Amino acid sequence: MSPKDASLQALVAPIADDLAAMREVLQTSLASDVPAVSDMLDHIGRFRGKQLRGALVMLNANARSGAKARLADQTELPVVAAIVELIHLATLVHDDVLDGADKRRRVASVNRRWDNQVAVLLGDLIYSRAFHLSTTLRSPLVSQLLSQITQEICAGEIEQAAGRYDFNMSQESYERIATAKTGALYGAACELGSRYPDGSEFDGAAMRAFGREIGLAFQIIDDLIDLEGDEAVAGKSTGTDVEDGKVTLAVLHVYREAEASVQAKIRDAYTLPGLAESPGGRLAQLLDVCDIEPGKAKARARAAELVDSARKRLTRLPEGPARKALYTLSEFVLERRW
Ligand code: IPE
Ligand code: MG
Ligand code: MG
Repeated sequence: MSPKDASLQALVAPIADDLAAMREVLQTSLASDVPAVSDMLDHIGRFRGKQLRGALVMLNANARSGAKARLADQTELPVVAAIVELIHLATLVHDDVLDGADKRRRVASVNRRWDNQVAVLLGDLIYSRAFHLSTTLRSPLVSQLLSQITQEICAGEIEQAAGRYDFNMSQESYERIATAKTGALYGAACELGSRYPDGSEFDGAAMRAFGREIGLAFQIIDDLIDLEGDEAVAGKSTGTDVEDGKVTLAVLHVYREAEASVQAKIRDAYTLPGLAESPGGRLAQLLDVCDIEPGKAKARARAAELVDSARKRLTRLPEGPARKALYTLSEFVLERRW
Protein backbone atom coordinates (compact mmCIF):
# COMPACT_ATOMS: atom_id res chain seq x y z
CA MET A 1 0.00 0.00 0.00
CA SER A 2 1.45 3.36 -0.98
CA PRO A 3 1.37 6.25 1.54
CA LYS A 4 -1.41 7.83 -0.57
CA ASP A 5 -3.52 4.67 -0.32
CA ALA A 6 -2.88 4.71 3.42
CA SER A 7 -4.12 8.29 3.75
CA LEU A 8 -7.30 7.36 1.89
CA GLN A 9 -7.81 4.31 4.11
CA ALA A 10 -7.33 6.43 7.22
CA LEU A 11 -9.84 9.05 6.17
CA VAL A 12 -12.59 6.51 5.50
CA ALA A 13 -11.91 4.64 8.76
CA PRO A 14 -14.84 6.30 10.61
CA ILE A 15 -17.22 4.93 7.96
CA ALA A 16 -15.59 1.53 7.36
CA ASP A 17 -18.75 -0.42 8.31
CA ASP A 18 -20.97 1.76 6.13
CA LEU A 19 -18.64 1.30 3.18
CA ALA A 20 -18.59 -2.45 3.70
CA ALA A 21 -22.41 -2.39 3.59
CA MET A 22 -22.29 -0.28 0.42
CA ARG A 23 -19.89 -2.76 -1.22
CA GLU A 24 -22.26 -5.58 -0.41
CA VAL A 25 -25.09 -3.77 -2.20
CA LEU A 26 -22.76 -3.08 -5.11
CA GLN A 27 -21.78 -6.71 -5.36
CA THR A 28 -25.41 -7.83 -5.45
CA SER A 29 -26.18 -5.18 -8.03
CA LEU A 30 -23.35 -6.35 -10.28
CA ALA A 31 -24.85 -9.79 -10.88
CA SER A 32 -26.81 -11.25 -13.78
CA ASP A 33 -28.33 -14.57 -14.83
CA VAL A 34 -27.19 -13.98 -18.39
CA PRO A 35 -23.67 -15.48 -18.65
CA ALA A 36 -22.37 -12.90 -21.15
CA VAL A 37 -23.57 -10.06 -18.95
CA SER A 38 -22.35 -11.70 -15.78
CA ASP A 39 -18.83 -12.04 -17.30
CA MET A 40 -18.77 -8.32 -17.97
CA LEU A 41 -20.18 -7.38 -14.57
CA ASP A 42 -17.59 -9.63 -12.90
CA HIS A 43 -14.90 -7.85 -14.86
CA ILE A 44 -15.95 -4.38 -13.75
CA GLY A 45 -16.46 -5.72 -10.25
CA ARG A 46 -12.67 -6.04 -10.31
CA PHE A 47 -12.30 -2.31 -11.00
CA ARG A 48 -10.77 -1.06 -7.80
CA GLY A 49 -11.92 2.52 -7.57
CA LYS A 50 -11.44 5.02 -4.81
CA GLN A 51 -15.19 5.04 -4.07
CA LEU A 52 -14.90 8.65 -2.98
CA ARG A 53 -18.46 9.42 -4.06
CA GLY A 54 -19.92 6.65 -1.92
CA ALA A 55 -17.71 7.79 0.95
CA LEU A 56 -19.04 11.33 0.54
CA VAL A 57 -22.61 10.11 0.98
CA MET A 58 -21.65 8.35 4.20
CA LEU A 59 -19.42 11.08 5.60
CA ASN A 60 -22.07 13.74 4.99
CA ALA A 61 -24.69 11.56 6.66
CA ASN A 62 -22.38 11.03 9.62
CA ALA A 63 -21.56 14.70 9.85
CA ARG A 64 -25.22 15.72 10.09
CA SER A 65 -26.21 17.47 13.23
CA GLY A 66 -28.14 15.13 15.51
CA ALA A 67 -27.75 11.37 15.29
CA LYS A 68 -31.53 10.96 14.90
CA ALA A 69 -31.70 11.67 11.20
CA ARG A 70 -28.90 9.23 10.62
CA LEU A 71 -30.35 6.44 12.76
CA ALA A 72 -33.64 6.58 10.90
CA ASP A 73 -31.94 5.67 7.64
CA GLN A 74 -29.18 3.31 8.53
CA THR A 75 -30.49 0.59 6.27
CA GLU A 76 -31.03 2.76 3.21
CA LEU A 77 -27.87 4.87 3.23
CA PRO A 78 -25.57 2.11 1.93
CA VAL A 79 -28.05 1.63 -0.92
CA VAL A 80 -28.00 5.37 -1.64
CA ALA A 81 -24.19 5.31 -1.70
CA ALA A 82 -24.18 2.21 -3.94
CA ILE A 83 -26.55 3.93 -6.39
CA VAL A 84 -24.20 6.91 -6.62
CA GLU A 85 -21.26 4.55 -7.26
CA LEU A 86 -23.25 2.63 -9.91
CA ILE A 87 -24.03 5.85 -11.77
CA HIS A 88 -20.36 6.74 -11.62
CA LEU A 89 -19.42 3.28 -12.93
CA ALA A 90 -21.85 3.64 -15.84
CA THR A 91 -20.32 7.01 -16.78
CA LEU A 92 -16.84 5.46 -16.73
CA VAL A 93 -17.83 2.54 -18.98
CA HIS A 94 -19.27 5.02 -21.48
CA ASP A 95 -16.43 7.51 -21.02
CA ASP A 96 -13.83 4.90 -21.97
CA VAL A 97 -15.72 4.34 -25.23
CA LEU A 98 -15.72 8.09 -25.88
CA ASP A 99 -12.02 8.37 -25.06
CA GLY A 100 -10.98 5.11 -26.76
CA ALA A 101 -9.25 4.27 -23.45
CA ASP A 102 -7.63 0.85 -22.94
CA LYS A 103 -7.21 0.77 -19.22
CA ARG A 104 -9.43 1.56 -16.23
CA ARG A 105 -8.78 1.04 -12.55
CA ARG A 106 -5.73 -1.10 -13.33
CA VAL A 107 -7.53 -3.58 -15.61
CA ALA A 108 -8.64 -3.53 -19.26
CA SER A 109 -11.52 -1.17 -20.03
CA VAL A 110 -14.75 -2.88 -21.15
CA ASN A 111 -14.39 -1.50 -24.68
CA ARG A 112 -10.89 -2.98 -24.88
CA ARG A 113 -11.66 -6.36 -23.30
CA TRP A 114 -14.86 -6.65 -25.42
CA ASP A 115 -15.81 -3.85 -27.81
CA ASN A 116 -17.56 -0.48 -28.06
CA GLN A 117 -20.98 -1.95 -28.83
CA VAL A 118 -21.22 -4.03 -25.71
CA ALA A 119 -19.59 -1.32 -23.58
CA VAL A 120 -22.36 1.12 -24.57
CA LEU A 121 -24.99 -1.47 -23.72
CA LEU A 122 -23.34 -2.43 -20.44
CA GLY A 123 -23.22 1.25 -19.44
CA ASP A 124 -26.95 1.52 -20.22
CA LEU A 125 -27.62 -1.59 -18.16
CA ILE A 126 -25.76 -0.19 -15.16
CA TYR A 127 -27.60 3.15 -15.38
CA SER A 128 -30.91 1.28 -15.49
CA ARG A 129 -29.93 -0.85 -12.55
CA ALA A 130 -29.01 2.20 -10.53
CA PHE A 131 -32.34 3.87 -11.26
CA HIS A 132 -34.26 0.68 -10.61
CA LEU A 133 -32.56 0.41 -7.23
CA SER A 134 -33.51 4.02 -6.50
CA THR A 135 -37.20 3.14 -6.99
CA THR A 136 -36.95 0.64 -4.11
CA LEU A 137 -36.15 3.41 -1.62
CA ARG A 138 -38.71 5.00 0.68
CA SER A 139 -38.06 8.54 -0.55
CA PRO A 140 -38.04 9.65 -4.21
CA LEU A 141 -35.21 12.11 -3.45
CA VAL A 142 -32.47 9.87 -4.87
CA SER A 143 -34.34 9.30 -8.17
CA GLN A 144 -35.21 12.98 -8.43
CA LEU A 145 -31.73 14.25 -7.79
CA LEU A 146 -29.73 11.65 -9.70
CA SER A 147 -31.93 11.73 -12.79
CA GLN A 148 -31.20 15.47 -13.03
CA ILE A 149 -27.50 15.01 -12.35
CA THR A 150 -27.15 12.25 -14.94
CA GLN A 151 -28.54 14.63 -17.54
CA GLU A 152 -26.03 17.26 -16.45
CA ILE A 153 -23.18 14.74 -16.79
CA CYS A 154 -24.28 13.77 -20.32
CA ALA A 155 -24.71 17.42 -21.32
CA GLY A 156 -21.20 18.11 -19.99
CA GLU A 157 -19.73 15.25 -22.02
CA ILE A 158 -21.61 16.47 -25.11
CA GLU A 159 -20.42 20.04 -24.61
CA GLN A 160 -16.87 18.75 -24.15
CA ALA A 161 -17.07 16.74 -27.36
CA ALA A 162 -18.41 19.79 -29.21
CA GLY A 163 -15.53 21.91 -27.85
CA ARG A 164 -12.72 19.61 -28.95
CA TYR A 165 -9.71 21.39 -30.51
CA ASP A 166 -10.98 24.73 -29.16
CA PHE A 167 -7.67 26.19 -28.03
CA ASN A 168 -9.29 29.50 -27.17
CA MET A 169 -11.89 28.07 -24.82
CA SER A 170 -12.42 30.35 -21.83
CA GLN A 171 -11.57 29.11 -18.36
CA GLU A 172 -15.23 29.65 -17.53
CA SER A 173 -16.35 27.23 -20.26
CA TYR A 174 -13.74 24.67 -19.23
CA GLU A 175 -14.94 24.87 -15.64
CA ARG A 176 -18.59 24.65 -16.61
CA ILE A 177 -17.91 21.43 -18.54
CA ALA A 178 -15.73 19.94 -15.79
CA THR A 179 -18.32 20.82 -13.15
CA ALA A 180 -21.05 19.12 -15.17
CA LYS A 181 -18.93 16.03 -15.91
CA THR A 182 -17.58 15.51 -12.42
CA GLY A 183 -18.62 18.18 -9.93
CA ALA A 184 -22.32 17.42 -10.35
CA LEU A 185 -22.12 13.85 -9.03
CA TYR A 186 -19.82 14.89 -6.18
CA GLY A 187 -22.37 17.57 -5.31
CA ALA A 188 -25.24 15.06 -5.41
CA ALA A 189 -23.32 12.58 -3.23
CA CYS A 190 -22.83 15.27 -0.58
CA GLU A 191 -26.38 16.59 -0.85
CA LEU A 192 -27.88 13.10 -0.53
CA GLY A 193 -25.75 12.28 2.49
CA SER A 194 -26.73 15.55 4.05
CA ARG A 195 -30.47 15.40 3.25
CA TYR A 196 -31.65 11.87 2.65
CA PRO A 197 -34.55 11.24 3.11
CA ASP A 198 -36.06 14.40 4.60
CA GLY A 199 -33.27 16.55 6.00
CA SER A 200 -33.00 20.28 5.47
CA GLU A 201 -32.85 21.46 1.88
CA PHE A 202 -30.79 24.41 3.05
CA ASP A 203 -28.07 22.18 4.54
CA GLY A 204 -28.26 20.00 1.44
CA ALA A 205 -27.57 23.01 -0.79
CA ALA A 206 -24.52 24.01 1.26
CA MET A 207 -23.04 20.53 1.07
CA ARG A 208 -23.90 20.30 -2.63
CA ALA A 209 -21.82 23.46 -3.14
CA PHE A 210 -18.98 21.83 -1.18
CA GLY A 211 -19.18 18.73 -3.38
CA ARG A 212 -19.30 20.64 -6.65
CA GLU A 213 -16.17 22.60 -5.75
CA ILE A 214 -14.33 19.49 -4.61
CA GLY A 215 -15.48 17.68 -7.77
CA LEU A 216 -14.29 20.48 -10.04
CA ALA A 217 -10.92 20.43 -8.25
CA PHE A 218 -10.86 16.63 -8.68
CA GLN A 219 -11.40 16.98 -12.45
CA ILE A 220 -8.72 19.69 -12.77
CA ILE A 221 -6.27 17.31 -11.06
CA ASP A 222 -7.58 14.42 -13.19
CA ASP A 223 -6.68 16.41 -16.29
CA LEU A 224 -3.18 16.99 -14.88
CA ILE A 225 -2.82 13.24 -14.23
CA ASP A 226 -3.72 12.68 -17.90
CA LEU A 227 -0.89 15.05 -18.87
CA GLU A 228 1.60 13.30 -16.54
CA GLY A 229 1.28 10.26 -18.80
CA ASP A 230 2.14 7.77 -16.06
CA GLU A 231 -0.35 4.95 -16.56
CA ALA A 232 1.27 2.71 -13.95
CA VAL A 233 0.54 5.31 -11.27
CA ALA A 234 -2.81 6.49 -12.66
CA GLY A 235 -4.14 2.94 -13.19
CA LYS A 236 -5.91 4.11 -16.36
CA SER A 237 -5.06 5.26 -19.86
CA THR A 238 -3.33 8.63 -19.92
CA GLY A 239 -2.63 11.08 -22.73
CA THR A 240 -6.14 10.44 -24.08
CA ASP A 241 -7.14 14.08 -23.66
CA VAL A 242 -4.45 15.16 -26.13
CA GLU A 243 -5.26 12.27 -28.47
CA ASP A 244 -8.93 13.25 -28.47
CA GLY A 245 -8.55 17.00 -28.83
CA LYS A 246 -9.54 17.86 -25.27
CA VAL A 247 -7.72 21.05 -24.43
CA THR A 248 -7.58 21.02 -20.65
CA LEU A 249 -6.84 23.85 -18.21
CA ALA A 250 -3.03 23.64 -18.12
CA VAL A 251 -2.84 23.62 -21.93
CA LEU A 252 -5.36 26.47 -22.22
CA HIS A 253 -3.17 28.61 -19.95
CA VAL A 254 0.04 27.80 -21.85
CA TYR A 255 -1.64 28.34 -25.22
CA ARG A 256 -3.01 31.74 -24.20
CA GLU A 257 0.43 32.95 -23.12
CA ALA A 258 2.39 31.42 -26.03
CA GLU A 259 3.78 33.15 -29.12
CA ALA A 260 2.00 32.46 -32.40
CA SER A 261 4.72 30.03 -33.55
CA VAL A 262 4.43 27.96 -30.38
CA GLN A 263 0.65 28.07 -30.60
CA ALA A 264 0.90 26.58 -34.08
CA LYS A 265 3.15 23.80 -32.76
CA ILE A 266 0.70 23.05 -29.98
CA ARG A 267 -2.14 22.78 -32.50
CA ASP A 268 0.06 20.50 -34.63
CA ALA A 269 0.76 18.21 -31.66
CA TYR A 270 -2.99 17.72 -31.32
CA THR A 271 -3.83 17.41 -35.00
CA LEU A 272 -1.01 16.37 -37.38
CA PRO A 273 -1.74 12.94 -38.85
CA GLY A 274 0.54 10.11 -37.75
CA LEU A 275 1.66 11.61 -34.44
CA ALA A 276 -0.57 9.32 -32.40
CA GLU A 277 1.59 6.40 -33.58
CA SER A 278 4.93 8.12 -32.82
CA PRO A 279 6.80 7.17 -29.60
CA GLY A 280 4.95 8.68 -26.65
CA GLY A 281 2.13 9.72 -28.97
CA ARG A 282 0.68 13.21 -29.18
CA LEU A 283 1.27 13.86 -25.47
CA ALA A 284 5.06 13.48 -25.87
CA GLN A 285 4.90 15.81 -28.88
CA LEU A 286 2.94 18.42 -26.93
CA LEU A 287 5.41 18.30 -24.03
CA ASP A 288 8.21 18.68 -26.56
CA VAL A 289 6.94 21.85 -28.22
CA CYS A 290 6.00 23.86 -25.12
CA ASP A 291 6.82 24.24 -21.45
CA ILE A 292 3.69 22.87 -19.80
CA GLU A 293 4.86 23.47 -16.21
CA PRO A 294 3.55 27.04 -15.75
CA GLY A 295 0.15 25.89 -17.01
CA LYS A 296 0.16 22.96 -14.62
CA ALA A 297 1.07 25.24 -11.73
CA LYS A 298 -1.81 27.59 -12.57
CA ALA A 299 -4.26 24.70 -12.84
CA ARG A 300 -3.05 23.28 -9.52
CA ALA A 301 -3.41 26.71 -7.89
CA ARG A 302 -7.00 26.96 -9.16
CA ALA A 303 -7.78 23.50 -7.74
CA ALA A 304 -6.29 24.56 -4.39
CA GLU A 305 -8.40 27.72 -4.42
CA LEU A 306 -11.56 25.65 -4.99
CA VAL A 307 -10.68 23.25 -2.19
CA ASP A 308 -10.07 26.21 0.09
CA SER A 309 -13.46 27.66 -0.70
CA ALA A 310 -15.13 24.26 -0.24
CA ARG A 311 -13.51 23.79 3.16
CA LYS A 312 -14.94 27.02 4.48
CA ARG A 313 -18.39 25.48 4.00
CA LEU A 314 -17.52 22.71 6.45
CA THR A 315 -17.60 25.09 9.40
CA ARG A 316 -21.41 24.82 9.41
CA LEU A 317 -21.14 21.14 10.35
CA PRO A 318 -20.78 20.04 13.97
CA GLU A 319 -17.18 19.22 14.88
CA GLY A 320 -16.33 15.52 14.87
CA PRO A 321 -14.58 12.70 13.01
CA ALA A 322 -16.83 12.91 9.93
CA ARG A 323 -16.22 16.63 9.47
CA LYS A 324 -12.50 16.05 9.95
CA ALA A 325 -12.60 13.27 7.34
CA LEU A 326 -14.34 15.57 4.85
CA TYR A 327 -11.55 18.07 5.40
CA THR A 328 -8.90 15.40 4.82
CA LEU A 329 -10.72 14.11 1.76
CA SER A 330 -10.54 17.56 0.21
CA GLU A 331 -6.78 17.43 0.73
CA PHE A 332 -6.58 13.99 -0.88
CA VAL A 333 -8.32 15.39 -3.98
CA LEU A 334 -5.40 17.79 -4.46
CA GLU A 335 -2.58 15.42 -3.62
CA ARG A 336 -3.75 12.29 -5.35
CA ARG A 337 -1.86 10.91 -8.33
CA TRP A 338 -4.40 8.22 -9.26
C1 IPE B 1 -14.81 11.81 -17.45
O1 IPE B 1 -13.69 12.59 -17.37
C2 IPE B 1 -15.72 12.09 -16.34
C3 IPE B 1 -16.87 11.18 -16.40
C4 IPE B 1 -16.76 9.91 -16.17
C5 IPE B 1 -18.19 11.74 -16.74
P1 IPE B 1 -12.35 12.01 -17.93
O2 IPE B 1 -12.50 11.50 -19.31
O3 IPE B 1 -11.27 12.99 -17.70
O4 IPE B 1 -12.14 10.78 -16.95
P2 IPE B 1 -10.98 9.70 -17.02
O5 IPE B 1 -9.69 10.45 -17.02
O6 IPE B 1 -11.21 8.90 -18.24
O7 IPE B 1 -11.15 8.91 -15.73
MG1 MG C 1 -12.06 9.67 -19.82
MG1 MG D 1 -9.24 12.22 -17.45
